[in-house]
Amino acid sequence: MRVRHQALSLLSWASSGICGLLTPYSASNTCSSEAFPYPEVEGAKILTLTAQQVHNYTSSLAALADWPGGNFTQNFCNVTITYTHPRWNDTINVWTWLPLENWNGRYMAQGGGGFVTGDANMFHPPALDRGFAVTSTDGGHVGTNDPSTWALTPDGKIDYYRLKDFAYIALHDANVMGKALAEAFYGQPPNYSYYSSCSSGGRQGLTMAQRYPHDYDGILALSPAINWATFIIAEYWPQLVMNQLGVYPRPCELDAISAAAIEACDELDGVKDGIVAAPSLCKFDPHTLVGQTFNCSGVEASFTEAAATIALETWRGPAEWFGVNPGTPLTGYVSLANTQCASPTSTDCEGVSFIVATGWISLFLEQNPNFDLKSLNYETYGALFELSRARFEHIISNNNPDLSNFAAAGGKMVTWHGLEDEVIPPNGSSHYYQRVLDEDANARDYYRFFELPGTFHCRPGLGPFPNDTLSKVMRWVEEGVAPDTLDGVIQDPITGEVKGKRKLCQWPLVEKYVGGDITQEASFVCSESF
Ligand SMILES: *[C@@H]1O[C@H](CO)[C@@H](O)[C@H](O)[C@H]1NC(C)=O
Ligand SMILES: *[C@@H]1O[C@H](CO)[C@@H](O)[C@H](O)[C@H]1NC(C)=O
Ligand SMILES: *[C@@H]1O[C@H](CO)[C@@H](O)[C@H](O)[C@H]1NC(C)=O
Ligand SMILES: *[C@@H]1O[C@H](CO)[C@@H](O)[C@H](O)[C@H]1NC(C)=O
Ligand SMILES: *[C@@H]1O[C@H](CO)[C@@H](O)[C@H](O)[C@H]1NC(C)=O
Ligand SMILES: *[C@@H]1O[C@H](CO)[C@@H](O)[C@H](O)[C@H]1NC(C)=O
Ligand SMILES: *[C@@H]1O[C@H](CO)[C@@H](O)[C@H](O)[C@H]1NC(C)=O
Ligand SMILES: *[C@@H]1O[C@H](CO)[C@@H](O)[C@H](O)[C@H]1NC(C)=O
Repeated sequence: MRVRHQALSLLSWASSGICGLLTPYSASNTCSSEAFPYPEVEGAKILTLTAQQVHNYTSSLAALADWPGGNFTQNFCNVTITYTHPRWNDTINVWTWLPLENWNGRYMAQGGGGFVTGDANMFHPPALDRGFAVTSTDGGHVGTNDPSTWALTPDGKIDYYRLKDFAYIALHDANVMGKALAEAFYGQPPNYSYYSSCSSGGRQGLTMAQRYPHDYDGILALSPAINWATFIIAEYWPQLVMNQLGVYPRPCELDAISAAAIEACDELDGVKDGIVAAPSLCKFDPHTLVGQTFNCSGVEASFTEAAATIALETWRGPAEWFGVNPGTPLTGYVSLANTQCASPTSTDCEGVSFIVATGWISLFLEQNPNFDLKSLNYETYGALFELSRARFEHIISNNNPDLSNFAAAGGKMVTWHGLEDEVIPPNGSSHYYQRVLDEDANARDYYRFFELPGTFHCRPGLGPFPNDTLSKVMRWVEEGVAPDTLDGVIQDPITGEVKGKRKLCQWPLVEKYVGGDITQEASFVCSESF
């Protein structure tokens, strides 16, 4: 058995000079499985730790949320810890990548999306590129949006341990481990600790501020999947309405309704730019379209009553929660009213439900992998909200508005949310932020919220998309300069060419057009109304 340095504190181990750790944050530190002591984490038992240098690791990633894309070639110490919580029957992998050169003295953790807790290959490279030591965790389950391999125990019960790992426990473990590894490797602890992720990752960022207020100095919790126990069920609402009506409109018709909504409401903010920037002023009723014709992939067709109802219901949402805004894509992989037809013009169509919502309902609520979602009716669907909240609100809704401990610890956090988010209704974020302000009228001193017109789920649409909000959060943390606005950049969706810039205002302020070239920042001011 290999002798570990567990008895020594990390600091004394690191500064003792063994394993060549005398030079801080240089590439010469030892990156081997033997060199790292096992980090000590309460309740965790480390099973293995492997470390090896990786050179010229190449990845090609598209831009996602706050991370720019790029073609990366990188050198790092790749540390993987596998551990368990004894008696929980879980096995969790934590991935830490430590830059071999140009460490910026800081630590970064990242989360995942949907039911994915984290993914090193997908998210680490852009953070490593900026010099961060970076960590994420698989939360104890495979990284897919299908939770069927882990939601239930072999005897069919909800695996609450794995759910808690996913919701928060594994995230804190990873933070403790990642920081300890960075300290051991560089011979000094990171000076600052950050978190940046979107969607489920945004939810995870908020839960860290709520539950582990000392873990991060700065958090970007973007388009967060908070209010999980409620909004995940609400995602199924458009499909339920379709099932109840027995009608599945063609994507071309739903897309044409979205286009008509944009046409009707585009200029409510005084600017014609293909964006509904003022969704709360948009009273467009798609029933006014019924009987008019639209172009379905080259074939003329008429708008139907059923499609109008389905679009309107998708915007309204169920009684228990919000819907998405008019103009938001209703069709496509993560869109909530998605359908699929035998051909683009065929009316032989079926509903395509978002897998995270169906997985949640069938496994965590019905505890039945073979549950037939089409058997739900308005009444049984409505009852799911209560069940979900009773069982899971305290575990995974991650919407506690009391951030006083985070504030006291000196933490700083930013949330942005696209107003054309097709999968997480943006009103869930403004609703949460209002609750935070109700709790503490001075919450803007440490937590700021921005709504983004014309932005989809964690990715740009036609609107101004915030560029490098991480730098703003770092400046807030390290220099005390709080971001009043974010730097919106309007890019051509195909070529990426920069078409314009616009400052994005802190909620509830909006970007009011005051005249001039709409591609210029100076043509807009932050205002209480349009
Ligand atoms: C990495 O790539 C560089 C540039 O192509 C090359 O000089 C170097 O030898 C490579 N390193 C390793 C370990 O392959
Ligand atoms: C990555 O490289 C490919 C092919 O070389 C290129 O087409 C692409 O634009 C590059 N991506 C980025 C983000 O630079
Ligand atoms: C890092 O190490 C783990 C564990 O050995 C391995 O599975 C993974 O592929 C490595 N990652 C890279 C980028 O080399
Ligand atoms: C522990 O989890 C594994 C799957 O990861 C499963 O095969 C095994 O039956 C579980 N044991 C108990 C006691 O639940
Ligand atoms: C941390 O900050 C101190 C004080 O500014 C500085 O001397 C040290 O080099 C920093 N450490 C790292 C790892 O950047
Ligand atoms: C979202 O909130 C705004 C402002 O309170 C409200 O006008 C709008 O109707 C809400 N939208 C949805 C889809 O619930
Ligand atoms: C209808 O849409 C098709 C593409 O889907 C396009 O080629 C055609 O020009 C459109 N026709 C009209 C009349 O707009
Ligand atoms: C985005 O931010 C980066 C770094 O902060 C800056 O270099 C770049 O010019 C910005 N992009 C645009 C289009 O303003």
